[in-house]
Amino acid sequence: MTDPTAASAAARGFASLAVHAGQQFDPTTGAVIPPIHLSSTYAQDGIGGLRNGYEYGRSGNPTRTALETQIAAIEGATHGLSFASGLAAEDALLRATLKPGDEVLLGNDVYGGTHRLIARVLGPWGVGVRVVDMSDLDAVAAALAKRPATILWVETPSNPLLKISDIAALACLGHDAGALVVVDNTFASPALQQPLALGADVVVHSTTKYLGGHSDVVGGAIVTSDDALAEKVRFLQFAAGAVSGPLDAWLTTRGIKTLAIRMQRHSENADAVARFLAGHDRVAEVYYPGLESHPGHEIAARQMRGFGGIVSLALADGPTARRLAESTSLFTLAESLGGVESLLNYPDEMTHASVRGTELAVPVEVVRLSVGIEDADDLIADLDAALASL
Ligand SMILES: Cc1ncc(COP(=O)(O)O)c(C=O)c1O
Repeated sequence: MTDPTAASAAARGFASLAVHAGQQFDPTTGAVIPPIHLSSTYAQDGIGGLRNGYEYGRSGNPTRTALETQIAAIEGATHGLSFASGLAAEDALLRATLKPGDEVLLGNDVYGGTHRLIARVLGPWGVGVRVVDMSDLDAVAAALAKRPATILWVETPSNPLLKISDIAALACLGHDAGALVVVDNTFASPALQQPLALGADVVVHSTTKYLGGHSDVVGGAIVTSDDALAEKVRFLQFAAGAVSGPLDAWLTTRGIKTLAIRMQRHSENADAVARFLAGHDRVAEVYYPGLESHPGHEIAARQMRGFGGIVSLALADGPTARRLAESTSLFTLAESLGGVESLLNYPDEMTHASVRGTELAVPVEVVRLSVGIEDADDLIADLDAALASL
């Protein structure tokens, strides 16, 4: 199930890989866009006579292979594995690598669902979770020295407070302590940040976000160049079956083709929005790594090729933040992020409601913006009007 174009494609630049890796035209018809293979099963040339390894839709599908080849290529990896959601991908990775008694050391403002999965689904099976501020290297070193962790789970920029963690430094710390270093690269996307090149072992994606890019598909991916680890995750992908369906895989593939230019525009618009908000007297704080005042700005400038499309802001208090969240017209109030259209979310009651009252709780005065690719002036005018109405 390998893609014959993958080897030559590996030498190309990011935007070329995003458009071409795994996307060779259909050899029978010349159709430039590879067809969507909906078949759940494959004819065998005699028992066990499989064509290109395809046997049954859960174990393999050519449309999924095309996506997996593309995702591996754009992260600079050997293996990409695609799943039905970001959390399904995380679940497969965690169950492939952990056993009862093991612990995950998690950043203290990672996506709430990641914490919920480990604490509430894997917890009853004997897996432990500790949290630490991943942007504080001394705190991470102390936590690892106190007790070993099987996995060091890094999310940078983090959701929703845009904390920046130093991937290269954390990879060294994690490896010295014998941990597998996992980076959730959902917020940056590989167009802006390549964690494997910085020393991480595994990259996790909610492809629902920037990779899909159009808010029309839910999916996830695991990316690694570790053959043995990929084998274990692939076995679980097959054995548990949380695979992406062919139409979902195809939509994600189509989204990835424009990732490079979308991320450029998201970053430009987010920068303009962040600077507007930073100068507004109703806004108490702006969280955006592109601002020189952001504590992680220098690390972000070193390890990212752009600061991304997410901006969070703090208002005076929770009720004001709630009102802002309900007062925009171009920004749509909705969960999720990373689509071409601008969205806004009140984390405490929406995306991060599951971590209320825990160490990962998001301050009630915070609103998260997913800045889309519309005209920046229109986005700023919308926020300006909403802030004036408070
Ligand atoms: C950073 C991050 N990781 C993982 C996930 C989970 O992905 P999914 O919703 O596709 O299961 C999300 C979802 O919001 C996320 O923001």
